[in-house]
Amino acid sequence: MRPRRLRQSAAVRRLVAQTRLHPADLVLPVFVREGIDEPQPIEAMPGVVQHTLDSLVEEARRCVEAGLGGIMIFGVPLDKDNIGSGADAEDGILNVALRAVVDAVGDELVVMSDLCLDEFTDHGHCGVLDEQGSVDNDATLERYASMALAQARTGAPVLGLSGMMDGQVAHVRAALDDAGFTDTILLAYAAKYTSALYGPFREAVQSSLEGDRAAYQQDPANATEAAREIDLDLAEGADIIMVKPAQPHLDIIAMAAELSPVPVAAYQISGEYAQIKAAAERGWIDEDRAVLESLLHIKRAGAQIILTYSALDVATRI
Ligand code: PBG
Repeated sequence: MRPRRLRQSAAVRRLVAQTRLHPADLVLPVFVREGIDEPQPIEAMPGVVQHTLDSLVEEARRCVEAGLGGIMIFGVPLDKDNIGSGADAEDGILNVALRAVVDAVGDELVVMSDLCLDEFTDHGHCGVLDEQGSVDNDATLERYASMALAQARTGAPVLGLSGMMDGQVAHVRAALDDAGFTDTILLAYAAKYTSALYGPFREAVQSSLEGDRAAYQQDPANATEAAREIDLDLAEGADIIMVKPAQPHLDIIAMAAELSPVPVAAYQISGEYAQIKAAAERGWIDEDRAVLESLLHIKRAGAQIILTYSALDVATRI
C-alpha cells in the first residue's frame, strides 16, 4: 500500500483535501473605543487596533468585500463603574457602534455583539460583585438581560454571551422573548476555559482586572464539565455554541461537534494570535502558513464557524 500516491502533487492534494476554509466561515472580532480620533494600535496584537466609530464602519465594509461571515464587536468605554452602566446605556459605545455597523452593512454581514460586563466594570469582572467581592451570578443575570435588550434594540442579529454565568442563556432568552425579540440569535460561549492567553485582549479592552476569572471560567484540566455546559446551553435555547480558546481545546471542539445539533463555533483568541505573530516577527515561523494551519486544525476538529483576528488577512488566501 502506498498512501503517498495521494500526496504527490498540489493538484492531487487539493482534490483529496477533506477540510477547506471559506471566508464565510470566518468572523472578525473588533474593538471600538470611545473618545479617540484615530485608531490606536494594540501593542500585544500587532496589526489589530482599537477603532474609532468611523474606522470601525470602514473595517466592517472590508469584511463585506472579503466575503466574511460576520463581525464581533467589543466596546471600550471611556468611563467604567462597578455595575458596568455603559453596557446597557443607549448611548454606550458598544450600542452606538452596533447601530452604526448594522446600518452600514447589516444586510451583507452578520453583526455580532459581545454580551458581557467586563469591558464596562471598573473591577474588570464579567459580572457584578457581592459584598464579599465575588461575582454574584444571579444579580449579573439581571444586568445581562438589560444589556441584551439594549443590544437587540440596535438591530444586532446575534448576541454573544461570553460571561460564563450559570443560566445566562435561559435568562437572556426569556427577557428577549418577553420584549418581542424572538428572532435575536444567541451565540453561547458554552465551553469557555480560563487562560493566560487572554492577556492581549485585556490590553485591547483596557481591562482593570486584577487576578483571574477562574471562579467562573472552566478549568483547563477538565473535559466532562464542557459536555455539561454544552448540554445546559443547548437546553436553555442556544442557537450556536462556542468553544474558547480554540487550538488548545481541539478535543473539546470535537466533543461539541459530536454533541451539538446546532452550529459549533470556536474562538481563536488574542494570545493564540499573538503567539504566531511574535514567533513570525522573530523569523522563527512562517506567519502565513502558521495562521492557515491553525485555522485548518480548528475546522477539522469540528468548528464550523471560526472567530479569528486573522479573518481579513486570510480571506484572500483561502
Ligand atoms: C469576555 C471576553 C474575553 C474575551 C472575549 N470575551 C475576555 C476574557 O474572558 O477574559 C477574550 C478574547 C480574546 O482573548 O481574544 N467579555
